Amino acid sequence: MQKQAKDYIVFPLDFSSVKEAKEYVKLLDGKVGMFKIGLELFIDQGPSVIKLVKEKSFAKIFLDLKLYDISATILRAMGKVANLGVDLVTVHCSSSRAMLEKAVEGGKGETGVLGVTLLTDNDKDIVKASGFKDEFVKDPQLLVMYRAKMAYDAGCKGVVCSGMEVQQIKKCFGKSFLAVTPGIRPGWTLLEDDDQKRVTTPGRAVTLGSDLIIIGRPIRDADDPGLAAQKVIKEIEAVLNPSGNI
Ligand code: C5P
Repeated sequence: MQKQAKDYIVFPLDFSSVKEAKEYVKLLDGKVGMFKIGLELFIDQGPSVIKLVKEKSFAKIFLDLKLYDISATILRAMGKVANLGVDLVTVHCSSSRAMLEKAVEGGKGETGVLGVTLLTDNDKDIVKASGFKDEFVKDPQLLVMYRAKMAYDAGCKGVVCSGMEVQQIKKCFGKSFLAVTPGIRPGWTLLEDDDQKRVTTPGRAVTLGSDLIIIGRPIRDADDPGLAAQKVIKEIEAVLNPSGNI
């Protein structure tokens, strides 16, 4: 089936209670392509939360565990993740190619591995404070590309990156290597004190080549989250189909 505008949208279930998560799954079912289950909900609820989302929605599941450990442990942990029936899982790129390879192997082709390149709330100052070489401090995008190559070489399904790196990632690694973009802010929700440092709009991210956009608070905190998701869908449709013809 052809990819629809809603299929670009990943909604993070960043909630402390399963009750709220359930409410949002119900509100947004059919309006987003994927639900992202992150650490908060997974640590609180365990694998049962995946079953719960699957019972309530046909959307895909992205388990955002941001794994990082020695390769042998990652292989074993990923074996368990693959048994959960989730479509994507995140693994940090900041350890080694070997770790990413073991993650891919453990996923058994059932769960795709997404490499986390550089968290979007990390800016130059944070890169510097982490002890990176000057070339990476001057240009954190270089670090993102370096790590994306590692993920690509290790057989990952794609990477998480900001909208600013999408074009280059698609150019270097091809269409089928997924670029998943957080830090998405529709024009109508831009806040001055936003903690996401490298933000882009849904339409711009898709135009640049993002395969999936992670969009949380602009939908979650809207007066009508279903309507906010519809607005994002419309914005994506407008760039996918600029003439307005179906
Ligand atoms: O749109 P909003 O800022 O609320 O999105 C927050 C979500 O984006 C969180 O679930 C966070 O884990 C995720 N995120 C991510 N990768 C990043 C930055 C944020 O998955 N590099």
